[in-house]
Amino acid sequence: MNTLECIKTRRSIRDYIDKKIEKSDLAEIVESGMYAPSAHNQQPREFYIITDKEKLNALSENLEFGKMLTTSGGVVLVCFDKNKYTDMDFIQSDLGACTQNMLLTAHEKGIWSVWIGVYPLNNRDHKINEILNIPQQTEIFSIISLGYQSPSLSLRDKKCVFPEKIHWIE
Ligand SMILES: Cc1cc2nc3c(=O)[nH]c(=O)nc-3n(C[C@H](O)[C@H](O)[C@H](O)COP(=O)(O)O)c2cc1C
Repeated sequence: MNTLECIKTRRSIRDYIDKKIEKSDLAEIVESGMYAPSAHNQQPREFYIITDKEKLNALSENLEFGKMLTTSGGVVLVCFDKNKYTDMDFIQSDLGACTQNMLLTAHEKGIWSVWIGVYPLNNRDHKINEILNIPQQTEIFSIISLGYQSPSLSLRDKKCVFPEKIHWIE
């Protein structure tokens, strides 16, 4: 699959079949996040990879928009240490680029995903740190839910190309 095809055929998928994601695939997905561009090359990202079913169920119970985690084959939390990185100007761009890299790498591997936004909505993350025993200074930016779907999954159409939104200055 080339890059453009990967971008165009990625979809947010929120329920998965019962199939384990190999540890090596999870590690490669995370590695691809680390290759994302980063403002001032600060690379403020840290990752937690969760495959424990009990923890995933507990997370799902505490995330209004994260109910799909009960069927996830693996979950990656993209985080930053708020004590270490105090220059917040580009934190969302940085970690957003990192998250998107991982969605695309997963897709290229045949693993479906959905991005669950956490930061800067501070009402979403207070329990997550507790459940996973993650230090309180670690701010959770996004949660990536990953899993397989049946090969016959039909992709819903996406209307994304609006020529009137493109402005050429030549
Ligand atoms: C910053 C951000 C936060 C999101 N948060 C959630 C979420 O909490 N729960 C969810 O089911 N989907 C979430 N999504 C996924 C969007 O709903 C999804 O990308 C959008 O509907 C477009 O569908 P597509 O990804 O299939 O193109 C989020 C996406 C982004 C970029």
